[in-house]
Amino acid sequence: MNILVTGGAGYIGSHTCILLIEAGYSIVVFDNFSNSSIESIKRVEKIVNQSIPVVEGDIRSTKDLEKVFNEYKIDAVIHFAGLKAVGESVDKPLKYYDNNVTGTINLCEVMSKYGCKSIVFSSSATVYGNPASNPITEYFPVGQGITNPYGRSKYIIEEILRDVFISDNSWKIVLLRYFNPVGAYKSGTIGEDPSDIPNNLMPFISQTAVGKREYLNVFGDDYDTPDGTGVRDYIHVMDLADGHVKAIDKIKSFDKVMTINLGTGNGYSVLDMVKAFEKASGKKIPYKIAPRRDGDIAMCYANPSYAKEVLDWSATRGLDEMCEDSWRWQSQNPNGYRG
Ligand code: NAD
Ligand code: UFG
Repeated sequence: MNILVTGGAGYIGSHTCILLIEAGYSIVVFDNFSNSSIESIKRVEKIVNQSIPVVEGDIRSTKDLEKVFNEYKIDAVIHFAGLKAVGESVDKPLKYYDNNVTGTINLCEVMSKYGCKSIVFSSSATVYGNPASNPITEYFPVGQGITNPYGRSKYIIEEILRDVFISDNSWKIVLLRYFNPVGAYKSGTIGEDPSDIPNNLMPFISQTAVGKREYLNVFGDDYDTPDGTGVRDYIHVMDLADGHVKAIDKIKSFDKVMTINLGTGNGYSVLDMVKAFEKASGKKIPYKIAPRRDGDIAMCYANPSYAKEVLDWSATRGLDEMCEDSWRWQSQNPNGYRG
């Protein structure tokens, strides 16, 4: 089976490429490198010891996509390509809707034209907004209380894909709602490489540990959580990658749009993360309590039992391993892929 991996040079995509190849799938990576570099794929090629076809292109360009579909017989698409910076999406909503929503519509049109109707889509726990309780099941309401255009773009794409299925139920559609991906491939040769000052907690902590940032701002210590700081469901990126392989393994057997949480079911606070990272790295992480960040919620963690039921998938890596692997990547590559 030949899988097109849009956004395959990015953080989650590059890790997934390894497991797809190890599972025996052929892959083609499609990326415009707006938030990644070809270096990630070069390193994946070394890990899997084979070359990977890469097409540089933009999902908003029919011409770019048709080039791939003309050259390769694609059986299914894993669609990671998208912009994901929450803050930037507030300042530049049209850029986000254009890239994420228009890009996905364009991708589906080209897929349909070439008779490829299987897609695994990177959605997000952000579609749940501020959940009424935790853990979150797939039956929780979505779309209400989403605080930014990035999150709304994910919700809109989910709805569009459901409509695509209603119009033609020969489509096979899996919506994977990721919780908070962290960690890196075991060897430390690939990992998360934010191009700017990190917005997300784990890359900020690891850059603080390596000395690139002076201290971590802990955004709020007065939430209704055990220690007052925000609680999230951090999931190892290799577990997440494995969830995609399982989704592709089973995709042909699904007869409805599958909406699946990929999380561990455990919630950890910001201060839990600081402590775990200090243990893994042996470094002190200086931090200051700062005001709450706009749009943040107190707590968000998954009920992952549906993924177990339908994909036979569950996360196997714990918090210590997430921090150890993040640290190996960060300490071996203090400047990411830029050397
Ligand atoms: P990433 O930025 O590392 O990877 C996304 C990749 O898509 C990049 O390589 C980028 O260059 C590419 N891309 C962006 N726009 C493109 C376009 N128009 N055409 C072609 N390529 C394009 O991000 P990631 O963390 O690997 O996330 C992958 C997907 O998962 C994204 O859709 C993201 O929204 C979603 N997601 C991520 C998280 C997270 O916390 N990392 C959580 C939930 C969902
Ligand atoms: N945090 C800090 N300091 C920082 C960064 C984050 O205290 O410098 C805190 C936040 O306030 C929050 C927690 O750490 O309590 C996690 O924040 P992240 O920014 O790492 O993650 P979010 O849960 O806010 O959002 C992430 C992605 C979204 C995605 C969502 C759910 O950024 O794209 O997870 O999957 F939608």
